[in-house]
Amino acid sequence: MTLDPRFQVFLADCRERVAACLEDTLPAESIQPARLHAAMRYATLGEGKRIRPVLVYAAGRVCGTPKERLDIPACAVELIHAYSLVHDDLPAMDDDELRRGRPTCHKAFDEATAILAGDALQTLAFRLMAHAPLPGLSAATRLQMIDELALAAGCRGMAGGQALDIDAVGRELTIAELENMHIHKTGALIRASVRLGALSADAAPAQTVRQLDHYAKCIGLAFQVQDDILDVAGETSQLGKTRGKDAADNKPTYPALLGLNGARDMARQLFEEALDSIGSLGEDADTLRDLARYIVGRSH
Ligand code: IPE
Ligand code: IPE
Ligand code: MG
Ligand code: MG
Ligand code: MG
Repeated sequence: MTLDPRFQVFLADCRERVAACLEDTLPAESIQPARLHAAMRYATLGEGKRIRPVLVYAAGRVCGTPKERLDIPACAVELIHAYSLVHDDLPAMDDDELRRGRPTCHKAFDEATAILAGDALQTLAFRLMAHAPLPGLSAATRLQMIDELALAAGCRGMAGGQALDIDAVGRELTIAELENMHIHKTGALIRASVRLGALSADAAPAQTVRQLDHYAKCIGLAFQVQDDILDVAGETSQLGKTRGKDAADNKPTYPALLGLNGARDMARQLFEEALDSIGSLGEDADTLRDLARYIVGRSH
């Protein structure tokens, strides 16, 4: 897909900022326990799309927040995401060997190290949110952001969704059950990314926050629908993960339930609903519009 040149510049800038912040935050491999630190860096510093951090910056932009204030929450959501991928790939979960075009963390290291790397990445995210400077933000807002992130990552968010996913293997879910699983396992962190971006403004208008939240719910679900579609219609070489794994593992997915065309329709509808919900937000929301287009149009 062709991306708007201004959006490409925005993407590149956000990715550069988050790469620098992650580099500063992750412990060096030279520091003990070196193998754990190496695994944390391996899992985080690979070729990720950085969609969640980019959402933090894009939502912050709509609320007039300076980018400097968004680096920490952007980095925190990516650390949580990186942890979730390490654990998602473990033999006890999806048992995957390829991630971001290279061996999964437990293949490159070992299972125990991968489990610990995931644990440590998650706690690092919260330590960052609790400690790092957030210039211009009140302690109360910082606390609210930590609370949002914890809720999104935990048993009522991502971890809960992952539990539903494991429980659903080999079963046929209804559309409502599948939607509930996707909203939690993937949607929750995407929604939190947008909310953290909005909260960083300290006083974004409540109506704007509601609009952003609805946008985030739609693209959060659309993101996983597209992920499911790519598992069927993508290419392993482009995806950087093994195509066809969902079907091989008997995972309930949108293409499995609705067919490929049905799943594509669903992604398109969610995309349109996302755009509608931020329709009145003006030019500053163009990045969010481009991001929504990117999320449903991406090929990896
Ligand atoms: C993959 O997320 C896992 C899902 C939640 C579907 P991404 O597609 O954002 O993975 P990276 O970070 O770009 O590798
Ligand atoms: C993963 O969903 C969701 C989380 C990591 C929380 P998937 O299992 O579909 O992600 P991929 O396809 O392995 O990236
Ligand atoms: Mg999974
Ligand atoms: Mg997986
Ligand atoms: Mg998948």
